[in-house]
Amino acid sequence: MCGIVGYVGPSQACPILIDGLKRLEYRGYDSAGIAVVNNGKVEIARAKGKIASLETTLRCSPIHGTLGIGHTRWATHGRPSEQNAHPHRAGKATVVHNGIIENYGAIKQTLTASGRVFGSETDTEVIAQLIDHLLEQGTAAEVAIRQVCRTLKGSFATAILIEDRPDTLYAVRKESPLVIGIGRGESFLASDIPAILNYTNRMVFMDDGEMAVLKPDGVRFTDFDGERLTKVIKTVDINPVMAEKGGFKHFMLKEIHEQPRAVTDTFRGRISEEKGEVYLEGLQITDEEITRIRRVLIIACGTSFHAGLVGRRIIEDLTRLPVEVDLASEFRYRDPIVGDETLLISISQSGETADTMAATKEASARGAKVVAISNVIESSLARMSSHGVIYTHAGPEIGVASTKAFTTQITALYLFALFLAWKRGSITLDRRRELIADLVRLPGRMGEALETSATLKRMAAVYEKYTNFLYLGRGINTPIAYEGALKLKEISYIHAEAYPGGEMKHGPIALISDQMPVVALLAQDAVYDKMKGNMEEVRTRGGVLLAFLAGHEDGSLSRLAREVVRVPMSNPYLTTILLALPLQLLAYHIADFKGADVDQPRNLAKSVTVE
Ligand code: G6P
Repeated sequence: MCGIVGYVGPSQACPILIDGLKRLEYRGYDSAGIAVVNNGKVEIARAKGKIASLETTLRCSPIHGTLGIGHTRWATHGRPSEQNAHPHRAGKATVVHNGIIENYGAIKQTLTASGRVFGSETDTEVIAQLIDHLLEQGTAAEVAIRQVCRTLKGSFATAILIEDRPDTLYAVRKESPLVIGIGRGESFLASDIPAILNYTNRMVFMDDGEMAVLKPDGVRFTDFDGERLTKVIKTVDINPVMAEKGGFKHFMLKEIHEQPRAVTDTFRGRISEEKGEVYLEGLQITDEEITRIRRVLIIACGTSFHAGLVGRRIIEDLTRLPVEVDLASEFRYRDPIVGDETLLISISQSGETADTMAATKEASARGAKVVAISNVIESSLARMSSHGVIYTHAGPEIGVASTKAFTTQITALYLFALFLAWKRGSITLDRRRELIADLVRLPGRMGEALETSATLKRMAAVYEKYTNFLYLGRGINTPIAYEGALKLKEISYIHAEAYPGGEMKHGPIALISDQMPVVALLAQDAVYDKMKGNMEEVRTRGGVLLAFLAGHEDGSLSRLAREVVRVPMSNPYLTTILLALPLQLLAYHIADFKGADVDQPRNLAKSVTVE
């Protein structure tokens, strides 16, 4: 949700900023802009729309200089326009900002009354105006910035240029992510690691209430009161190539195909098949605490919520603990029953979703033991979880529609369920070994499931013309139906609903006609015949059935459905992953066939850092 980047060093800033912004574009693409200090003067280029529009602007009027900041926007306050695009400048202060300034209305009123004129509708501009206001009164730059930070309410990751400080970049953080890159004779800042990974892998992760002063020869950190801080430099072990398209037409397609590798990386080194044991290095929960858990609560948003729904079944089955799953945005606003016998699992790919963070804080304050599942190393969520983190090792996910994050989240939940079951003694050694062996065989089966791509591409050409889809699943596959429908909505803009098969007769059946493809998910499990029954109900009413089957076709499905897409089967928990893959591919191919912007669907952003 907005990406910021900054550079100070001996090289030209503009290409570095543009390169960084392109890698942050998944965070928003309503407008983009940069500000560079050129011969002591700040020059700004901004454009509505994607980075490509900004590049066109810059080709006509290039900007030179070795110190600069950049921004890609997901609009909150103020419609997407060039006028509202960052950077925002007031006198000597120029800023880019990710977050929301909650008290901007009051500040703007005061500043306007004192004669200041605003050029945009954004909340961000008050930051620049406030800093410049203090500079005019003779306050030193660093002191002014800190004072402004103490005045602002809300969240901000902000980079600031001061016109008469041509070798210095200032950065401040509160509740929005910010990482500082330490290069050789140059310094960087960004909202996320991949933006600067091509230049350095030595990073400092800023915490809330911190300020960084970046110069080519080093970075100094203080808190908002000016107290000097010592920060640890971490070496980040991510290959920059992981954030490239690697020959695929879209990041999403690449990420779909990466899943066997991503799942392998998520369980690699964490299991012993022989001993039936699971090792989760980031957990900080004692055996005694595990024994005292009486209930599990999972909170998440979007696709991560769907992974949580799958996780509920796995954890309940293996540990016999009651599990509740809630949307983070709902959880925060009720009076949840949480105590110190509650284990909270917070799931977030980005680890910075505002609702998930706030819900986690709320549960933590009520005594819950918090374990995070996150894909981003050192993410804000990972760092606020009292009892540790299980990282999914999916690698950077750039496509806005989540794919590999989802299947690795299910993998992490499977590992965690096994871990809890082992520690609580709720399943036998043989059962643990069996479940671990299934996991080891899973990536091979995922490879087979991905071979359905050509079939799904052919189907996409036929079914892209429909405007409504219904997805049906049963039991543990119901969340996979939800996720399949979400993928189709997100990237192809086709309306899709998902229901548990048994619920169809209580409403959605009224929608069935030959204008509504019905995607039915089946596995050869206890509810296989029930699902076939639901399919009969659809067929009787003239519905167009597309069956996605895990396991062997017994001949009866091809009689019922117009298409049967088959994937291998595993145990019921892991079969969810195998069924998710062709649904991702179906959504992808339909969206691609329609010419939609697959990696950057309209109105969406990958990290939703606002409520
Ligand atoms: C946004 C993204 C989704 C994601 C959701 C939760 O809506 O577009 O893909 O599932 O946020 O994000 P998180 O990072 O918390 O998993």
